[in-house]
Amino acid sequence: KGCKLVGCGSAVPNLKVSNDDLAKIVDTSDEWISVRTGIRNRHILAGNDTLTALAVEAARKALQMAEVDPDDVDLVLLCTSTPEDLFGSAPQIQKALGCKRNPLAYDITAACSGFLLGLVSAACYIRGGGFSNVLVIGADALSRYVDWTDRGTCILFGDAAGAVLVQACNSEEDGLFGFDMHSDGGGQRFVLIIFLRNQRLIGGLNFASPLCRNLNAPIVENEVDHALGSNGSVLGFPPRRSSYSCIQMKGKEVFRFAVRCVPQSIESALQKAGLTVSSIDWLLLHQANQRIIDVVATRLEVPPERVISNLANYGNTSAASIPLALDEAVRGGKVKLGDIIAASGFGAGLTWGSAIVRW
Ligand code: ACO
Repeated sequence: KGCKLVGCGSAVPNLKVSNDDLAKIVDTSDEWISVRTGIRNRHILAGNDTLTALAVEAARKALQMAEVDPDDVDLVLLCTSTPEDLFGSAPQIQKALGCKRNPLAYDITAACSGFLLGLVSAACYIRGGGFSNVLVIGADALSRYVDWTDRGTCILFGDAAGAVLVQACNSEEDGLFGFDMHSDGGGQRFVLIIFLRNQRLIGGLNFASPLCRNLNAPIVENEVDHALGSNGSVLGFPPRRSSYSCIQMKGKEVFRFAVRCVPQSIESALQKAGLTVSSIDWLLLHQANQRIIDVVATRLEVPPERVISNLANYGNTSAASIPLALDEAVRGGKVKLGDIIAASGFGAGLTWGSAIVRW
């Protein structure tokens, strides 16, 4: 039995934050951020926006493109590290989509590699479990875990959701070829959001703070209460009762890990698929840093015109970045029916992996 990608969709929050906006709240500049990362803007969840609603919007678009009714979905996989319900937000998405047959829905947590793990899982459910239509959604709101006083990390991340519908088909039409997936817990210290006991932490952007007012973000009532409270606000970022730390990252180590492991992983996935670099139409990497994308493309000898990148507009959107970039490339007419894509995700865990797929 085969499986193929039959629809994609994506959604980003309305609030756009430019490099110049960030230069108003931390000591940085548009030039530094653009040169070192390739990022110019990112979108972040604000006010009453929810990640779940963003994921639902992306999933609806994928279903519409595929012309598949929500009732025919038999599995919803939400790949996220930032769910609104730690027990899993996928069932809320299943409910909001109106999947009436109560299909299985659950979350997968693997940071920036989450979407690829979702794709692999979808293929396994279809090939071995008799499933027909699997929605794979990558959605993350890392802005909620960013320390907005740390210029080393706050410039990198954005929020978004992207989705694909993976459908059962006959083996001749099979569009998911080789996979290669890895983890290395020894590298956890390079990038993490860790559970901390009995600590009051500073995290999340407080849109009511004077420092952030120029972002024109909608203000939520209880955030104003926090900001005005006499509980020792630091720089307008109110202490919050949170049990998780902000993102802690050693950027250089993550960079080195990515440029070492991603080319190897893509070559291994291509080998399993019985293909070579020359057979791929597009290289689609997790969008973390343009310099990482360029180094990997050079190592694999993929010319720049065959590399998909939309990092400049959205930053690193974690599990959403691959389906978001795919959706833009498909709707923009860049990726055409039948094109072969080498996709690769990498990030916290550490986790990394690649998949060779046909659109
Ligand atoms: N603006 C201005 N200066 C800055 C900024 C900033 N935003 N951030 C750091 N600097 C300064 C540093 O303080 C340092 O100054 P110094 O030389 O006086 O000490 C200098 O710029 C160089 O800093 P580096 O950290 O060495 O810069 P680097 O070139 O390594 O770029 C970056 C940093 C962009 C974070 C890069 O290392 C990177 O992208 N790494 C990969 C991160 C990543 O991909 N994470 C994804 C995983 S996340 C996940 O899985 C969820």
